[in-house]
Amino acid sequence: MPEPLLILGIPGSLRRHSYNRGLLEVAREVAADGMTVEIAELTDVPLYNADVEAEGYPAGVMAFRARIAAADALLIATPEYNYSVPGVLKNAIDWASRPPESPLRRKPIALMGASAGVMGTVRAQLSLRQSFLNTESYVLLKPEIYVANARDRFDPTGRLTDGGVRERIILLLGALRDWIHRVPPGLDR
Ligand code: FNR
Repeated sequence: MPEPLLILGIPGSLRRHSYNRGLLEVAREVAADGMTVEIAELTDVPLYNADVEAEGYPAGVMAFRARIAAADALLIATPEYNYSVPGVLKNAIDWASRPPESPLRRKPIALMGASAGVMGTVRAQLSLRQSFLNTESYVLLKPEIYVANARDRFDPTGRLTDGGVRERIILLLGALRDWIHRVPPGLDR
């Protein structure tokens, strides 16, 4: 039996009852045979500082980069902050983008996101796509998952209660599996 595909879920929120971590928990539950979803936390990734980088990557950054490198694909679930990507997530992407051999290069990536507003992270996801042009990552085009009015679709502990969104996450994982097999391999795969 081949090794299952390893999908690294990255929530763009540090909040305990984060809706976006809730989306990734569902992905972990519904992952079909042949796929494993693990969830990373950004708690140990410090603020980017070129002086610190010049002295060597901090342990939290090394660990985060290694987890990206080991994964067959990333599944990012992002909130939207002020119409864009939350700082904690952008900061982690910035660290991961740095040389040598950025683990983001040619990495297949799927996006989804939940937010309180009516746009459901459309603007944050577009902004992420822009950053991933520079990192030469392969961001899956569709299906798109924009979860608007998140308060109505999760319980207070951040658990998804909306069956339609759950179905879309199943579709997204299936599309990501196909995408992994289609794109040219990256440096670390
Ligand atoms: C927000 N929120 C928000 N929501 C939205 O739909 N569009 C936006 O531009 C913003 N902007 C914004 C800025 C800041 C600084 C905060 C703290 C929040 C609300 C946001 O969607 C809500 O906090 C979500 O619950 C965040 O996702 P998690 O933490 O539940 O995953």
